[in-house]
Amino acid sequence: MQGQESNSPADPLLSRHLPRHIAIIMDGNGRWAQRRGLDRTVGHREGVKALKPIVKEAARLGIEVLTAYAFSTENWRRPSQEIDVLMGLLVEFLASETPELKEEGVRIRTIGDIRKLPLSAQQSLNWAMTETSQQRRLILNLALNYGGRDEILRAVNSWRHQTPEGTELTEAELNRYLDTAGLPDPDLLIRSSGEFRLSNFLLWQLAYAEIYISDKLWPDFGPADLQAAIRDYQTRHRRFGGLG
Ligand code: IPE
Ligand code: IPE
Ligand code: MG
Repeated sequence: MQGQESNSPADPLLSRHLPRHIAIIMDGNGRWAQRRGLDRTVGHREGVKALKPIVKEAARLGIEVLTAYAFSTENWRRPSQEIDVLMGLLVEFLASETPELKEEGVRIRTIGDIRKLPLSAQQSLNWAMTETSQQRRLILNLALNYGGRDEILRAVNSWRHQTPEGTELTEAELNRYLDTAGLPDPDLLIRSSGEFRLSNFLLWQLAYAEIYISDKLWPDFGPADLQAAIRDYQTRHRRFGGLG
């Protein structure tokens, strides 16, 4: 695999089993800013900056998929000025970081109903996805206008429209219609800012994920925190309902 040479053979993280897919709820940008007497949007700007080092570290470690919750179906409830800033930051992030991410072997893709995003965001995403479509080291899966319930409903409805009347829906078949089709389920869910909830994230796919809550606010979450989460994951005993 590309880039493995930069890994120290002594890196204890790599000598044990790694999660294939890590999902992250990047929470706490607003509080980060408010604690400094700044506008919430400043926190979002810092939050976007925090993502790249995490992606690079995940790629370095050999994680296959990193899914980052960037905007939920419920986040439309926020003031339109904050939403506009978030969408603008997405466009800026893609324009400025896609070349370097491509260089690092990162393939950008999305989950969520991106047809409801502003056109500028859709165009940037389509450009970034095409630009990085040949990269194979890490998938950066951006969850945008994503909600677990919305995803399941869209999947079931499109299955129903494409399937003869009377067919039973199976787990495998539903998996093929979800936005995450083709990806392994997340092994590890990380949420920053000390909140213990899913907030409608990957409701189906997180069925057996190990959960790690960090007290750090997202703009303060760095590669060392990702490593700490993975080390914690490596101590877990996953049983999947069995006795193993
Ligand atoms: C996460 O930070 C980013 C998004 C939800 C878009 P928040 O904006 O939720 O920050 P807090 O939770 O208010 O601190
Ligand atoms: C979850 O965070 C969504 C994202 C990080 C994009 P929220 O801040 O929206 O979640 P709640 O409202 O605290 O549950
Ligand atoms: Mg929040």
